[in-house]
Amino acid sequence: MPLPGDRTLTIRLIGPADVDGVERLYARLDDDSRYRRFFSLHRPDRDFFERVVAVEARGGAGIVAAVTPRRGGRARLVGEASYEPLASGNGELEITVDAGWRGWLGPYLLDALVEVAASRGVPALEADILMTNGPMLALVRSRGYAVMPGQDWTVLRVSIGTETRSPSWPSLRRGLRVLVEGPSGRWSGQEAASELGIDVLGCPGPTVNGRCPVLAGRPCPLAAAADAIVIAHPPDSEAWQTLRSAHAELHPGIPVCVVLDARSAAPMGDERVFRPEGRLDVVRFVERLARAHADGVGDEDEDEDEDEDEVEDAGASGVRVGRDDGEGGDEHAERRRTRGGGRRTAAKPP
Ligand SMILES: CC(C)(COP(=O)(O)OP(=O)(O)OC[C@H]1O[C@@H](n2cnc3c(N)ncnc32)[C@H](O)[C@@H]1OP(=O)(O)O)[C@@H](O)C(=O)NCCC(=O)NCCS
Repeated sequence: MPLPGDRTLTIRLIGPADVDGVERLYARLDDDSRYRRFFSLHRPDRDFFERVVAVEARGGAGIVAAVTPRRGGRARLVGEASYEPLASGNGELEITVDAGWRGWLGPYLLDALVEVAASRGVPALEADILMTNGPMLALVRSRGYAVMPGQDWTVLRVSIGTETRSPSWPSLRRGLRVLVEGPSGRWSGQEAASELGIDVLGCPGPTVNGRCPVLAGRPCPLAAAADAIVIAHPPDSEAWQTLRSAHAELHPGIPVCVVLDARSAAPMGDERVFRPEGRLDVVRFVERLARAHADGVGDEDEDEDEDEDEVEDAGASGVRVGRDDGEGGDEHAERRRTRGGGRRTAAKPP
């Protein structure tokens, strides 16, 4: 790519000969950038850079952005991005752009790395991002990302898809899959669910995620492949209402539980409704719904019977299913009253 001042910008794969250039790029980082990259003011030693440029040998990939004067001379590296292979088949992403080249190079480099990852069969790239790292958060937001479970609320672990350009579940399925939709992409039951062996992914929803397919009338790959969907504290906005009302049509048969608070819009369609308290019970209830879905896909009758037991069990263990206006009443009676409406109307509020 030609640049003003008789210079050329080249994006190419990283290699051992780049070790000095990458070291110089990192040496130019100010404290703020260094902290965002390493979560400390760490100054890496030579071994670190030798590892960075040898990422291919470990099954990962890296690229650099090099600026070269047209009349020759030494190339200057102004950006670097790479991924290390993870056991899940995904890649661990890192990216660094020289301060003087920010404003467009970060997204450009990320897209180039995503293409390399896709061409090598890596379905998603994951990264830990400090909640204070505005540019990096904006970068992944514009691509569409899923939130992965994490216990540190100052750090967001995200996953971005490579092939579909929207986030996807890891190709290796460990167990049940629960998608959490909520403005933060997080759910207080996440840790308990993970302890039960459930894979949880979060989506910050249509107002944050730049590429929400549901708003465009298309199924969401995360929702379509989930065993249950939890909508946690949805704001009362048009985009969220569109998302909630679209699930039944775009992702039929996937049970939807919604945790409502005072600011949320009223329950919609076949949503099962919870109040925020009693977290562990909600998690267990969601687990049973998800298991029934995973076991019973394609067998509606069996699923329906299982479902009834689940609601009874959940009620017995204290989960509140009903309206969120303090008039929830007896969820067992409610369950029986609406029983005729089919499997997904079981716990539907009046
Ligand atoms: C993260 C990084 C690679 C992004 O590259 P970049 O070239 O700066 O990217 P941009 O300037 O296009 O910024 C990306 C987005 O952040 C937005 N942005 C810029 N500064 C911002 C700020 N202070 N707060 C919020 N958003 C900001 C931009 O508007 C842009 O959003 P848009 O695409 O919707 O317009 C680069 O800033 C960097 O190297 N940072 C230091 C190392 C680092 O943090 N690495 C990531 C570790 S996880």
